[in-house]
Amino acid sequence: MLSETGWEQDSGSSAFRERFEQVRTVVYPGSAEACRDLAAHIRDLVESRAREGRMAVLGLATGSTPVPLYRELIRLHREEGLSFGGVITFNLDEYYGLEPEHPESYRRFMADQLFDHVDLPADQAHLPDGSVPIEEAFASCAAYEEAIVNAGGIDLQILGIGRSGHIGFNEPGSKKDSRTRLIALDRITRRDAAADFLGEEKVPRFAVTMGVGTILEAREIVLLAWGENKAEIVAQAVEGAETEAISASFLQSHPNARFVVDAHAASALTRQRLPWLVGRTTWNKPETRRAVAWLAGLKGKPVLKLVDDEYNETGMGELLTREGSAYDLNIRIFNELQHTITGWPGGKPNADDTNRPEKALPWPKRVLVIAPEPEDDILSMGGTMERLVRQGHELHVLYQTSGSLRVSDDAAAKFASILRMLAEQGSGRSGETGPACGAIWEHQGDYAAAILAEIERKGTFGEPSKNLRLLKALIRRGEARDSCGVLRIPAEAIRFLDLPFYENGRYRRFVPGKEDEDRLGAVLSEIRPDQIYATGHLADPSSVQGICFELLEKALAAMLGEEWLRRLSLWLYRGHQQPLRPYEVEMAVPMSPVQLETKVAAIGRFQTHNSPDNLDGEDNRGLAKAYDRLGLAEYEAIEGFERSRPLGAGAAGDEAISGSGG
Ligand code: GLP
Repeated sequence: MLSETGWEQDSGSSAFRERFEQVRTVVYPGSAEACRDLAAHIRDLVESRAREGRMAVLGLATGSTPVPLYRELIRLHREEGLSFGGVITFNLDEYYGLEPEHPESYRRFMADQLFDHVDLPADQAHLPDGSVPIEEAFASCAAYEEAIVNAGGIDLQILGIGRSGHIGFNEPGSKKDSRTRLIALDRITRRDAAADFLGEEKVPRFAVTMGVGTILEAREIVLLAWGENKAEIVAQAVEGAETEAISASFLQSHPNARFVVDAHAASALTRQRLPWLVGRTTWNKPETRRAVAWLAGLKGKPVLKLVDDEYNETGMGELLTREGSAYDLNIRIFNELQHTITGWPGGKPNADDTNRPEKALPWPKRVLVIAPEPEDDILSMGGTMERLVRQGHELHVLYQTSGSLRVSDDAAAKFASILRMLAEQGSGRSGETGPACGAIWEHQGDYAAAILAEIERKGTFGEPSKNLRLLKALIRRGEARDSCGVLRIPAEAIRFLDLPFYENGRYRRFVPGKEDEDRLGAVLSEIRPDQIYATGHLADPSSVQGICFELLEKALAAMLGEEWLRRLSLWLYRGHQQPLRPYEVEMAVPMSPVQLETKVAAIGRFQTHNSPDNLDGEDNRGLAKAYDRLGLAEYEAIEGFERSRPLGAGAAGDEAISGSGG
């Protein structure tokens, strides 16, 4: 039953570098490669079962993580004749209280993402029932368990992982022997689902999930994870102790379970983060810096105070033999870290730029800040944007998507009812005197009434019309302009691309296309920036941020021969949930307390979607504190950036894409 793919060969070894890992973990460069192998493995399973005259029983998961797997299975079905006629499926979980036809129900999700595109007979696909009355829930869960047993048990269970460490919906506290049951959703889970449901308050409070015990009975288990947001929880589940606080950690004691992750989701594993602890490393520049900063953190000392013994004790003696002594190494790294700090993110004119993150010329620069959704930019680099404008650069801000999915019906209704009141006054219908242009106001009033009627009619989860999506996009647009205004960025500098993949899609199921690429390409060749700031490089590739970054990479790759690209510096900012660690920062832009206040005020202008965490400035204060602890200057707050690595295949290379004066 072993496949010819890398599937079996990759795993199984308990190499020294994996010695902190308590469960087999296979790291792939990206989700596409991982899903290709896993889909081939599933095909082998289905075919070998068929040869034995038996059904293959698959346990399936929802969320954005398995989407690329399902796309590959659909491809195998269409192009290579893989049949699901001999497959029985059981899904892990379902929201409680949603009708099966609800757009966010997992039944609907599975239909959209897999079932409707393959030949799986409807009566062979099972999901827990989220619509049974509460008094029948227990019996319904027991019947689900029984159906699994009657099918012969699950051959292969696919899992994702929630940021609370859950598998299925087994939230912290779930017992190792728990069975299929009704469960209350954790705060983090509800927050992560808020975008799908257009507001945290609309996310169901309960769900039905297979229990940890149910899952562990599967003969084989594969947990998938992509992107930086999963890195911390993956590391805890793989390297920490088995604990009810992280139900994914229970896979450690399963005889045939593995984690299959991409490089970004693997980035907090010891073998990636602290490779010198698990074998030889290259001791290249970033790794050396990372090691020294890590050691300083471990010892609670500034870099310049580290001594030889401390390096030796922690497996870094080899580094000293290369550098001579701790003293020399400390100074070198201290200087490197010091040189990342600049108050001149666009480069400092008339200054020696040998050791500065950004080159001095050209001056002023054409700078393009690209944000997947409005607010991503302000959250991560509002302070830097303000500086770039103040320092005289020609700043352009480009919003790739409208952000309309972030705007709730309530916000749209609020706008429409104000408009209706205005219209009533303007047309004189309210009996008060208003501007004398009644006819115009009547149109406005009709528009407002139509929007309000639609919101009422479609209910919380009905598909919004193009009209309503447009209104939401414009509300977000207004907020973005307002927010940029606080940072003194003029309205003319802001562009809204409204990429179609977003306008025509929903979270976790976007399908980007050529038109998205072309629109972005057109703006890039029009502006021909000297410097770009972008994000999404470490995100789950099916998230808005991940898709937007890939579009940018493709657009740039298509222009590689062009002259302006040779001058371009491409800087990357990180999302809110995975801020840069000090040793990863290649440009650190400090902020004074007043600058931080201004930035927070700018973030506050996004009113339709904002979390209190966004308004405390703690991310930026945290980075400043980390710099301080390393013995560097003590600032109130810092925004950090990393330089782009060379673009994918056919890229012009590091120098061309991200050349610096240093
Ligand atoms: C939900 C599902 C889980 C899934 C998790 C992560 O909570 N119940 O099964 O693993 O979301 O979702 P995503 O893959 O979108 O990150």
